[in-house]
Amino acid sequence: MISNKGTNMQSEMDLCRDMIEIRLNELLTETNSRYATLIESMRYSLLSGGKRARAVLCMKFCEATGGELEDALDAACAIEMLHAYTLIHDDLPSMDGDDTRRGKPSNHIAYGEFTAILAGDALQAAAFESLSKSDLPTDSIVKMVQVLAQIAGPHGVCGGQYLDLSGEGTQHTIDELKELYSLKTSALISAATRLGVIAGGGTQEQVDASDAYAQAIGLAFQVRDDILDCTATAEELGKPIGSDVDNEKSTFASLLGVEASEQIVNRETETAINAIKDKFENIEFLIWIANALAERKN
Ligand code: IPE
Ligand code: IPE
Ligand code: MG
Ligand code: MG
Ligand code: MG
Repeated sequence: MISNKGTNMQSEMDLCRDMIEIRLNELLTETNSRYATLIESMRYSLLSGGKRARAVLCMKFCEATGGELEDALDAACAIEMLHAYTLIHDDLPSMDGDDTRRGKPSNHIAYGEFTAILAGDALQAAAFESLSKSDLPTDSIVKMVQVLAQIAGPHGVCGGQYLDLSGEGTQHTIDELKELYSLKTSALISAATRLGVIAGGGTQEQVDASDAYAQAIGLAFQVRDDILDCTATAEELGKPIGSDVDNEKSTFASLLGVEASEQIVNRETETAINAIKDKFENIEFLIWIANALAERKN
């Protein structure tokens, strides 16, 4: 049975998600230009659902520091744009070569490869444009742009994706895999939580606590993703299963097995929750979402 508490938390999540969908739609509108198909392909991936977990975290960390959800909305949309770009590129034949995403043909299957590459490039640029439009003090916006640029680059998502792809066919050690996951997955989640704290005017101590939370739920999130790649169905996931085995990737599931990987998910979720205790006004939702992501089925 879902408790009242769970229902309330779910409706808080739905409220954030609704705000995000509306704002994303406004930030990337259709055009009648000769490159309208490029914009259509960007909208195809950006507005195709998804859990919006990173964007919701961004808004809720803003709220936890005393800000309004709205204060972090453009930052949250920037995070989703950057995330959508990473997914489009991740599915390309030269990367994971996956033909479905969020229950639909992947961007390159629907629009062709060069359009998909450009849609990803353009979404990344659009992310920074959205962030710069936030109605916040200029010094906060500058800090936020720096955070997002840092995690998007070689010391973040690109570095992680490089290690992931260049390591196919070889076996990583657990420590190497932790570094890889920290870069390819936790980095963007930590950008989301940090941007939220900055938007809410939080302290450095709160930035650091949000970062520790994000690192831990990021690891849990990617290990859960690895487990689902082995145990879920393609219908549940909306993306192909067995992709990691097909690509000969080292994952926690392949190195340690599903059961030990489950334990890591639980342990990291606990670490995340401990990292934010006594650091924010209200952490009820942040605890709930950490647990919900750990237990997710897609
Ligand atoms: C998929 O992210 C990429 C990983 C880091 C595993 P999500 O599981 O958040 O994908 P969407 O946004 O909900 O589709
Ligand atoms: C993706 O990891 C991480 C990104 C930076 C996109 P995966 O390759 O495991 O994500 P899925 O399973 O395709 O969503
Ligand atoms: Mg990948
Ligand atoms: Mg992939
Ligand atoms: Mg995966």
